[in-house]
Amino acid sequence: MSLKIGIMHEANVAAGGRERRVAMTPDAIGRLEKKLPGVVVQVESGAGMLAGFTDAAYEVAGAQVVKNLKDKVDVLLRITMPDAKAKLPVKEGGVVVCLTSGGDSWKPLAAGGADVLALEKLPRTSRAQAMDVLSSQANLGGYAAVLGVVQKLPRLMPMLMTSAGSSKPANVLVLGVGVAGLQAIATARRLGAQVKAFDVRPEVSEQIMSLGAKPVVLDDPSVAVEGKGGYAGAMDAAGLLHLQNLLAPFIAEADVVISTAQVPGRAAPVLISADVVSAMKAGSVIVDMAAGGFNKANGIAGGNCPLSRADEVVVAGHGVTILGETNWPSMVAGDASRFWAQNMVNLLGIMVVDGKLSFADELVGAMRVSDKRQETRNKMEAAA
Ligand code: NAI
Repeated sequence: MSLKIGIMHEANVAAGGRERRVAMTPDAIGRLEKKLPGVVVQVESGAGMLAGFTDAAYEVAGAQVVKNLKDKVDVLLRITMPDAKAKLPVKEGGVVVCLTSGGDSWKPLAAGGADVLALEKLPRTSRAQAMDVLSSQANLGGYAAVLGVVQKLPRLMPMLMTSAGSSKPANVLVLGVGVAGLQAIATARRLGAQVKAFDVRPEVSEQIMSLGAKPVVLDDPSVAVEGKGGYAGAMDAAGLLHLQNLLAPFIAEADVVISTAQVPGRAAPVLISADVVSAMKAGSVIVDMAAGGFNKANGIAGGNCPLSRADEVVVAGHGVTILGETNWPSMVAGDASRFWAQNMVNLLGIMVVDGKLSFADELVGAMRVSDKRQETRNKMEAAA
């Protein structure tokens, strides 16, 4: 019997939903069929519409478009967690693949006897990169955040010389130079801004310079934090306060601050205090990319600036606009969905063996939160 994969309509804009992305795109279906001959992809009507993919495009690609996914599928691919009360169209022994909100949030998804793969649990190894939705989406998030700034900034990003006068390039400061931060630097540079950037991981200085930006060097070894698995470790409260003070003059002189600093499983570090916001120039813009996202999902409130509010635009200080958008990748939903879908094609390539679901691969096993052994490991990790 052929393996059936289900794609749900996630937007639910009528219910206030804001998700425009879709977990599988027409172009990726052909590549999936090459990898897994005989696979059947069922897509809920309208699922790709807000990302620019019509029902007709899915049909041409070989998918079955259905009004509602009633048939039970083997693999349900989603971006967001479904509503805990929703009855999911997945078979007993099937699997739900999505980002979860951490902790035990996945449990209702397994109520009908399905397994759950939590995509945020993918280990950070070079082999895993091709399936890593956090990376593919953070990258586009960094790009979209800069475009979000452009909408609010009352000045130009590039230097421009015209017969009516000239403009200086905007000063952009990027705090946290991971995947999103690097793309934010590259995008701001493409727009002609002057960019400085800081990260507690000193090894990123070379990457900052390779993008034509200047690393902020604080010349204080106490602000360098070794992490594990590519992530930064947490700082204690005194260390963080010290860092805030060291960063304050750089923040105060910037026209734009894009902060992306995160520490997995912890509250995001506060880097931009309320005091420094009041020292910023009128018209400056802060994007707090940590305003929600995984912190919100973990039940840990707050971003890199205590004045930011998840999914809101706040005006603080002397006219400083703070953007707390938590779903930047959804702003470029078409390409974000295409990258996500390719991550899923690569993932399905290792979790379907001889036409059957298999959790034997270590990467798949690490994401399988519904596995009792994994549950125990998670509890031990949380307690450590
Ligand atoms: P993230 O979203 O966890 O954090 C963003 C950035 O904030 C990181 O660069 C982190 O060092 C920085 N940060 C944390 N605390 C800070 C503080 N107090 N002040 C300033 N900056 C602070 O990280 P992200 O973007 O997901 O990845 C970080 C790195 O991990 C990447 O640059 C890459 O080298 C590596 N990576 C490896 C992958 C793989 O091998 N599969 C996949 C994704 C990332």
